[in-house]
Amino acid sequence: MPSLTDIRTTFLDYFEKNGHARVDSSPLVPRNDPTLMFTNSGMVQFKNLFTGQETRDYVRATTSQKCVRAGGKHNDLDNVGYTARHHTFFEMLGNFSFGDYFKDDAIALAWGLITKEFGIDPSRLLVTVYHTDDEAANIWKKVAGLPDDRIIRIATDDNFWRMGPTGPCGPCTEIFYDHGDHIPGGPPGSPDEDGDRFIEIWNLVFMQNEQFADGRLEPLDMQSIDTGMGLERIGALLQGKHDNYDTDLMRALIEASAQATGTDPDGPDNVHHRVIADHLRATGFLIADGVMPSNEGRGYVLRRIMRRAMRHAHQTGASDPVMHRLVPALVHQMGGHYGELRRAQPLIEETLRGEEERFRTTLDRGLRLLEDEVGRLPEGGTLPGEAAFKLYDTYGFPLDLTQDALREKGLKVDTAGFDAAMAEQKARARAAWSGSGEQADAAIWLDLADQHGATEFLGYDTETAEGQILALVRDGAEVDAVKAGETVALVVNQTPFYGEAGGQVGDTGTIRTKTGRVRVTDTKKSAGLFLHMAEVEEGELCAGQSAELVVDTLRRSAIRANHSATHLLHEALRAALGEHVAQRGSLNAEDRLRFDFSHGQALTPEELSRIEAEVNRYIRQNSEVSTRVMAPDAARDLGAQALFGEKYGDEVRVVSMGRLDGSGKGTDKTTYSIELCGGTHVARTGEIGAFVALGDQASSAGVRRIEALTGQPAMDYLRAQDRRVTELANLFKAQPEEVGERVRALMDERKALQAEIARLRREAAMGAGAEAKEINGMKVVLQVISGVSGKDLGPMIDQQKQILGSGIVALIADTGAKPAVAIGVTKDLTDRVSAADLVKIAVEALGGRGGGGRPEMAQGGGADIAQAEAALAAVEKAIAGA
Ligand code: SER
Repeated sequence: MPSLTDIRTTFLDYFEKNGHARVDSSPLVPRNDPTLMFTNSGMVQFKNLFTGQETRDYVRATTSQKCVRAGGKHNDLDNVGYTARHHTFFEMLGNFSFGDYFKDDAIALAWGLITKEFGIDPSRLLVTVYHTDDEAANIWKKVAGLPDDRIIRIATDDNFWRMGPTGPCGPCTEIFYDHGDHIPGGPPGSPDEDGDRFIEIWNLVFMQNEQFADGRLEPLDMQSIDTGMGLERIGALLQGKHDNYDTDLMRALIEASAQATGTDPDGPDNVHHRVIADHLRATGFLIADGVMPSNEGRGYVLRRIMRRAMRHAHQTGASDPVMHRLVPALVHQMGGHYGELRRAQPLIEETLRGEEERFRTTLDRGLRLLEDEVGRLPEGGTLPGEAAFKLYDTYGFPLDLTQDALREKGLKVDTAGFDAAMAEQKARARAAWSGSGEQADAAIWLDLADQHGATEFLGYDTETAEGQILALVRDGAEVDAVKAGETVALVVNQTPFYGEAGGQVGDTGTIRTKTGRVRVTDTKKSAGLFLHMAEVEEGELCAGQSAELVVDTLRRSAIRANHSATHLLHEALRAALGEHVAQRGSLNAEDRLRFDFSHGQALTPEELSRIEAEVNRYIRQNSEVSTRVMAPDAARDLGAQALFGEKYGDEVRVVSMGRLDGSGKGTDKTTYSIELCGGTHVARTGEIGAFVALGDQASSAGVRRIEALTGQPAMDYLRAQDRRVTELANLFKAQPEEVGERVRALMDERKALQAEIARLRREAAMGAGAEAKEINGMKVVLQVISGVSGKDLGPMIDQQKQILGSGIVALIADTGAKPAVAIGVTKDLTDRVSAADLVKIAVEALGGRGGGGRPEMAQGGGADIAQAEAALAAVEKAIAGA
């Protein structure tokens, strides 16, 4: 009996043998379709190949595509566990032709595979075709020899496949298997077609039209093929089972669930095990593709799936968290083909454990409340919306979990009441928010957020994605379109652009639609919306259009490196300076990083180099950077650094990097840095490249600031520094390491020369003019001197006093507009004449004020050099009269 793994391989091998490129499954979060919540069929990743918008180096492809149908248009969640063929996660096998083969080959290839490779009895098979598609009916007759009564014409959309309201589409033909008349049900198109006797196993779509929003259905330039066959269905058929959950793969998961909960796989808990097995697959693959449980968008769908499974695990009587213990079984079954599952195993386990531990703290109480409420209901009754809302709001019960729990008892929920309670809570939150005065001008963003919900951020996993333009805001008002030259704030349903937050700057890049292009100069966040601040560069953009969003990746890589380096720096600072170091602010831009932290004094050069060396050591370690989502308390228990006073939501992203032995953080004490952080980070520390601290300075009282560079800018900085030193060394004709010594020697020499120059200048200034007159029996020198400054006068006076031996020296320095005067009197004469008195006379004559000193030496300043001679004359007169 072939396993599901064998069947997948047979399918892919068969089409590869027939000239098809074997293409990997695309991720569950579609990158190229803004309207889809999850990839829900094989053709999603090829969407643009059918319309000719995109070409690749193959025209035939085959895949086993991961699909999720939970949330959004295709939602099978409610039926899972209770029916034979519903799944939230399934694999779709497909073969595709892009303008290559068409109906003939598609039908022949399909018939060959199922009747020859799979060996299905042709007499059990019948097909449907679109009612007008004679061509397909004739090919079936020719290729398979099917009689007319086993080629059923269907006029409804069941046989006209559309991807969505717009896009490539076409008639299809479906292959059915007849399980035999012992099972109730009629053939397709008959009134009891929903019975289980005739099961569709394969859908072949003839892509030949394009549906436009205005209702036009136009032929496509090329004709293509898109087929889809659910692996679980064909598996059940080939394994002789009627129920997908009885296939080997699903059965292994059911048994793992039974074993982990200590219950019988086929007993009364069977339905629980089926739900658990299905939800385990959806959870594992969604987490492997970057979705994390949250309260918004895709993350909330994942949370709903996880919590539903957890309630079912609880119903089996298990007292400990169950789901994470089943991950090894899942990886064992599917990790061979899907390597991403194997790689993400630790993350899946940890996310499941964290979520289940947390949910269990309210699950019991929530279920008791539910029991009480149910006790009050009549048979077949309806749970009031208020109660369902309380379960949601206080106990973390998603609405569909409550519905699922009630379904077992044949009860319903008043969903309108639930919605009303939810709307009321939103209104309260909004009133509180706008009352807080925060961004009072942001009413428009609140309105848009109410209308459209929060923007989904895809930028942790991709820098390119498609989104749908929900609103264009120009000068504070919503507009339908913007054209070249205008500036706009653009809101989309999902974006890879990071909105400025937590010190990380907003992304820049390009947004394109079919009709125009904008350059995004910044991205901000308000009320849960990401606002792409942009200039229209070309054409026109309209609300409602699909858009391709492309982040400037080089810039983002540089920002990422700086952000991750900031985490390493934070930890290195704590290691070097102590636990008191806490983040006080940060900037992660493309050209540098800045980190403010609490610390009382300047860092010594040794401390700074030690810190820099430690950061570089962890960069060279090139260890993996991991991100997990958990409750803030759980994160703190791991030793995560959180910003003091910061408000955190129900869950936080926890970024870990760096490995060390035994003395680190985390459960096994081997992690260097753990921080709560919503930013984007490198995948491995080595991507940071290099780290250079530019120095430490004071930021505010008790807060220091370090600016630093990483990657190429760090190398450029070092290179520029090196060039400067080399230039200097060349100037000195010395080795670079000798430059310091040479500079010191030069500075000493300069100091000596300056002293020598000052001495010479004084001597030159006095020159031969230093002639003393005899006044009142005293030797007196009176002189105006050019080319010296006021502070030269002191030494000159001393010198002259020494030459005179006994006498008075009065000098006025002609320093330009404001003359300086200094007067000295040798000690033996101070009882006759005081220098201080004489200076006052001179200063006054010079039009200045004040001046003073001691009897032997006094100085002052004047205002008018033209009065210099008059001032000296006044001094002379005073000496004469002394
Ligand atoms: N797109 C079609 C489907 O999903 C065939 O692959 O059924």
